[in-house]
Amino acid sequence: MDRVIEIARDGFVATLTINRPDKLNALDTGVLHELLVAVNALADGGETRAAVLTGAGKAFVAGADIAAMATMPPADAKRFSELGHRVCARLETLPFPVIAAVNGFALGGGLELALASDFIYAADSAKLGLPEVTLAVIPGFGGTQRLSRRIGIARARELVFTGRMVLADEAARIGLVNEVVPLADLLERARATAAKIALAGPLAIANAKRVMLRGAGTSLDDACELESQAFAALFGTTDQKTGMAAFLAKEKATFTGT
Ligand code: COA
Repeated sequence: MDRVIEIARDGFVATLTINRPDKLNALDTGVLHELLVAVNALADGGETRAAVLTGAGKAFVAGADIAAMATMPPADAKRFSELGHRVCARLETLPFPVIAAVNGFALGGGLELALASDFIYAADSAKLGLPEVTLAVIPGFGGTQRLSRRIGIARARELVFTGRMVLADEAARIGLVNEVVPLADLLERARATAAKIALAGPLAIANAKRVMLRGAGTSLDDACELESQAFAALFGTTDQKTGMAAFLAKEKATFTGT
């Protein structure tokens, strides 16, 4: 089988492209496994400080592969859902940020991948939604949980229960996407933000991401304690000394992730 996931690298910034445009990048088991391997490779390589996730052609991802799901018995559907969850959880817990550059349709599993990313930039032509109920199923890769954490329970309920697609401008208005960009500029814009993130202390970014994610699932007191621990631990790093010394010397710091 041809590879579907492409990885391009520019310095510390990696771009992952899901490349199955004839099926609008629909996610079947093979694509999800390949994505998991690619994401693990980025995590293990140690050279990535920010990543961009996008799709080839007119879609970001138009969902889980309906042809592959149509005859699935419940036990296979459970395994398929668990695989989708593994991919999303891996993306969400990577030690560097992932920006979803939504270049077109982000539906079902596609929106779920974007929701497992740290934030979303969308093309002005993008359409986003969780249409699963129109197929008489529900989102199975975390959409019933992550959408409400991102945009609030009432808006999430409306989108999940109606299955309607939102256009990029509405998605920005409700906080689902951070920024709407002309399609031609989308990748450049996402990579520019990724490159800015890559200039910061990588251990600081990893800890900020971890604490913000873990903290959201706990009480404010517990979350602030997590923050304090991470804040303190960073004072034991070389980069903290480099960064603060460079500021005081009015110089630019270069961080090594140590
Ligand atoms: N799973 C499997 N195949 C899909 C797919 C999906 N989620 N989404 C699109 N495709 C396939 C189509 O079947 C078609 O294949 P074909 O050329 O072999 O017939 C191809 O991708 C192009 O899609 P098409 O429907 O012709 O494009 P369009 O521009 O007319 O419509 C959409 C675009 C996104 C509105 C439409 O494809 C769609 O509704 N897709 C399903 C969205 C969905 O319900 N996702 C959630 C799944 S749980």
